[in-house]
Amino acid sequence: MARPHIEPFVDRDVAFKPLTLSGFKPGIRYKTLSIDKDTGACTMTIQYDAGFKQPPGFSYSEYEMLLMSGSLKVGDKVARKGAYFFVPAGCHLPAISTDEGAFALIFYNFGPPSFQESDRDHDDADRSKFKIINAYEDLDWLMTARRMPGVAPGCCVKALAFDEKTGASTFLYCMVPGFWQDNISYHDCAEEAYHIWGTSFMMQFGELPTGGYFWRPAYINHGCFKSDLGILAIGRTDGDLHNYFHHDPYSTPEENHERAAAAVARHKPALYKWILTHEHNHLPHDFEHPDDTYQATDYDSGIHMHDDGTSHSHAHGGAHSHLGGKKKNR
Ligand SMILES: [Fe+2]
Repeated sequence: MARPHIEPFVDRDVAFKPLTLSGFKPGIRYKTLSIDKDTGACTMTIQYDAGFKQPPGFSYSEYEMLLMSGSLKVGDKVARKGAYFFVPAGCHLPAISTDEGAFALIFYNFGPPSFQESDRDHDDADRSKFKIINAYEDLDWLMTARRMPGVAPGCCVKALAFDEKTGASTFLYCMVPGFWQDNISYHDCAEEAYHIWGTSFMMQFGELPTGGYFWRPAYINHGCFKSDLGILAIGRTDGDLHNYFHHDPYSTPEENHERAAAAVARHKPALYKWILTHEHNHLPHDFEHPDDTYQATDYDSGIHMHDDGTSHSHAHGGAHSHLGGKKKNR
């Protein structure tokens, strides 16, 4: 279960298509940025046409939305540029409408886009994480991005969402004009990002302009990078983001995987030994969360190695996830 590596992709290069999925009202157009073809989880930019109206209702999967231009009336409030929505599966929104239209980025994190008309939450919905804030106006920039080892000064973040169980996070980030970082990075998690404004350059993938996007599976080298005029972007990870920095542009994802495992062996030798000795017979339960259905085998980075020593990443098979049988808090 994984989305393929997409980098770079620029949504300005493709046309909007009308969203005709059952349940949705006419007047939404979309561009797909990435999709997991097994689960339907996807990231899209969407355009609500002027005059669009939608009755109260919910989605069967969690979604996050950032309004980038225009405005959206949500119940009796008006959401404008910078409005960020975190909507857990099954949590309903009041009626929405827009006179002028609205342009937004939307993350469906665990299942396909869906809309069920309803003026109440689904019985299984957990509203505790629901929020609508203005990410541009209501939050302060953290001047040091992430815990150590951190990125170079001049890359700042605003935390939007955080999953305590998995470490998955969503955040705005910016690079100041003239930002640069001269090392290479990889992570144990997938990361995706969308440029709301501005252009950055990365050694492996070239320039990422306004409207630029990537979905990058775990252990893919990225960096060095820089930005001449600065950027504003939104990013999301599907797990705990640790920066493994190095200076070897030729290391493969499989080699990076092995280096990361070696770091676990150094930092937590007892745990590493336990994992090795229980490789084929450990219980799938997360003991701190006995009602959680997560299993390590659910996670497939898609990375594999060939006999000739090359390795790469692409999507493998996975299971569907619906609200009724969903993983907790998703
Ligand atoms: Fe990264």
